[in-house]
Amino acid sequence: MISESPHERKHPRRRPLVRTALALALAGAMATAGVVALSGTASAQTTLGSAAASQGRYFGTAVAANRLGEQDYVSTLNREFSSVTAENEMKWDALEPSQGAFNFANGDRIAQHAASQGMELRGHTLVWHSQLPGWVQNLSGDSLRSATENHINEVMGHYRGQISAWDVVNEAFEENGTRRQSVFQQRLGDGYIAEAFRMADAADPDAQLCYNDYNIESVNAKSNAVYDLVRGLKAEGVPIDCVGFQSHFNSGNPMPGNFHENLQRFADLGVDVQITELDIAGSGSSQAEQYQGVVQACLAVSRCTGITVWGVTDKYSWRPNDTPLLFDGSYQKKPAYDAVIAAFTGGLSGRDSAGAASISFREAIRPEDTLLT
Ligand code: XIL
Repeated sequence: MISESPHERKHPRRRPLVRTALALALAGAMATAGVVALSGTASAQTTLGSAAASQGRYFGTAVAANRLGEQDYVSTLNREFSSVTAENEMKWDALEPSQGAFNFANGDRIAQHAASQGMELRGHTLVWHSQLPGWVQNLSGDSLRSATENHINEVMGHYRGQISAWDVVNEAFEENGTRRQSVFQQRLGDGYIAEAFRMADAADPDAQLCYNDYNIESVNAKSNAVYDLVRGLKAEGVPIDCVGFQSHFNSGNPMPGNFHENLQRFADLGVDVQITELDIAGSGSSQAEQYQGVVQACLAVSRCTGITVWGVTDKYSWRPNDTPLLFDGSYQKKPAYDAVIAAFTGGLSGRDSAGAASISFREAIRPEDTLLT
């Protein structure tokens, strides 16, 4: 008997496409009515989400529950993004701070906000060495295995039907490609990753199941190790659907020129690829060019299904001194924002260093990419 592959069984949730279809219908109606003849208003109506949707991708952001009361934060989030990841609220220490005592309040705030806006929701993250409560680190052997299974069951069960993709295992490798010596690795052995994916598949058969890591964007010892892991999991029939490339870039670790080739070799293993935590230190045109390069890398790979930036505004970035995001501390669009839009919509240039959108960028915006907000 030929069994279905995980990819055939699992597809990203379609809810955001409703939002996309509505946006395109509105844009079409506007075009018919001649409303979009005003090219000067086009950039205000084209958003990250609508631009990405025009290429069949989502564009997401990490969200912090305690910012959802801030008007500018929420209006920017709602206007621009089609997917959300909880920045901290769905990590083990947040959801199960003591054994068996679950607290979903903050995670639920984010989930409800995403649902109210028709946004996709990524789950982050189930098995990770960091932001792991002390009680987990003190367990040994079978107790750790059953606690992990219970955590996965409770969390995925709670959010079942709401999550498009879960980061099942996060950051399991060192830079040299050896396994990180986490409590999971030390007490459960090499097989813990396959075990976690099988537990996750049982807990929510509909969510896509991802492995997620950083510094795997180029071809290097670490990405080779992840590649070998994914190839082995697929060969064993372990249900893995996607690989997340965190993509935290800075001057010492810039966007690599071979990003799309690396994404493609993973996709060729039969998994989707996603850019999951994008932020790029810097400013002005050098930052913008790298953002544009990331979008182009994703667009070059048909199984690259979407991009998530790791925050809405520089002022709440986890590394605020790097000013790594698309909106500045006053929620103004940065040159990198225009570069992202241009990369999705076929434009060639973005804002100049003074922050003014150039004519060629505005002319590049197509009427069908506009979105009423
Ligand atoms: C970061 C959050 O942004 C911070 O608020 C928190 O203090 C630490 O974690 N890799 C990941 C993310 O997978 O969960 C991390 O998020 C950034 C690095």
